[in-house]
Amino acid sequence: MKHVNRKGTYSVKTDALKKYFGKDNLIPLWVADMDFETPQCVREALEEALKGGVYGYNFIPDNYFPTIVQWLKEKQKWEVEQQWLTFIPGIVKGIGYAINFFTEEGDGIIVQPPVYPPFINVPKGNDRKLVFNPLIRVEDENGGTYRMDFDNLRKIGESGECSMLILSNPHNPGGIAWDYDTLKELAEICHKYEILVVSDEIHADMPLFGTEHIPFASVSKEAARNSITFGAPSKTFNMAGIVSSFAVVPNEELREPFYRWMRVNELSSPTIFATLGAIAAYTKGDGWRMKMLDYIEGNVVYVENFCKDSLQGLIKPVRPMSSFLIWLDCRELCKKMFGCVDQQQLVELFINRAGLALNDGAAFGQGGEGYMRLNVGCGLEVLEEAMNNLKTAIDEY
Ligand SMILES: Cc1ncc(COP(=O)(O)O)c(C=O)c1O
Repeated sequence: MKHVNRKGTYSVKTDALKKYFGKDNLIPLWVADMDFETPQCVREALEEALKGGVYGYNFIPDNYFPTIVQWLKEKQKWEVEQQWLTFIPGIVKGIGYAINFFTEEGDGIIVQPPVYPPFINVPKGNDRKLVFNPLIRVEDENGGTYRMDFDNLRKIGESGECSMLILSNPHNPGGIAWDYDTLKELAEICHKYEILVVSDEIHADMPLFGTEHIPFASVSKEAARNSITFGAPSKTFNMAGIVSSFAVVPNEELREPFYRWMRVNELSSPTIFATLGAIAAYTKGDGWRMKMLDYIEGNVVYVENFCKDSLQGLIKPVRPMSSFLIWLDCRELCKKMFGCVDQQQLVELFINRAGLALNDGAAFGQGGEGYMRLNVGCGLEVLEEAMNNLKTAIDEY
């Protein structure tokens, strides 16, 4: 994989360190994009569009939606119809649209922390009532995983105060690719209590270590009838700045009014780059994707081995089943170093002592304390330097 030095390119990951961490000279291992050069096919498609020399209004190319249909069928074994799809300019925006269209101020929205911070911030910012159904931590010597708390979810359903649940599938953080039984049970409960599921599947196309992604809407009739799915090539092909995502809504009763609202407000109109980049990625980018996933697996194994061999297992990485983000369980390290799980001191250790910019676990809500999120979408040599710096900081403490 070709790594690109992104300093000086307005990249949030490298150039906004001072703003978010208070200093510049940190190894950037936070924002969820990769340091790998975007696939050549995508760059060529964008260059071709640039060469045109006029950047006026364009319509969506005829092969845009068929390309997505084909991709979902081939890679996710999910048969979707073309009319179920629309373009959306980014998944967080899509979540915001769904919240604004399907819920009212004060309505309850369920999220399952620890979770990607905008799942908390977007409902909150829109004056919805956040209702938490925290994930249950499942521990084992290999880093463990999480499961959903269905007993609690049923109780929330009984209360009747929630009309939407935002699902991260695969789940960020942790990279948990939810299994069929989990998704089916979730679909049954949400259908029974009339809770619309918004499934964010942005990390779907980066399965690791033999995992298979299961789209939420594909698990049952209830799931298809009661869901809005968002997908994108943006994370997978390292093109988040192009802002190219799509929605899939199988149920016409949900879809027609929602898509009409987006259409009349021109919320589902792409730039020419968004569609051309996506078509190129989905038709010609698979070789790059496979190489990238191979490289990421190597990086994950490196971090796992380093934690075991050089940090005496005091940090336990939750092995991601998908994507390039590792959720580091640092609770043992905290107890050993600080006598308790002290998030402030943990963040201080990573940022100020080790010089590493990772995401603070506390930003992911309940259950995030004692954790840090590490982005391994970078060169192995960067990761080696980072892990060695961390070890030195721990040893010197
Ligand atoms: C689960 C999840 N959803 C959405 C996004 C962002 O998507 P977008 O840039 O399309 O809004 C991210 C980025 O990290 C993510 O991890």
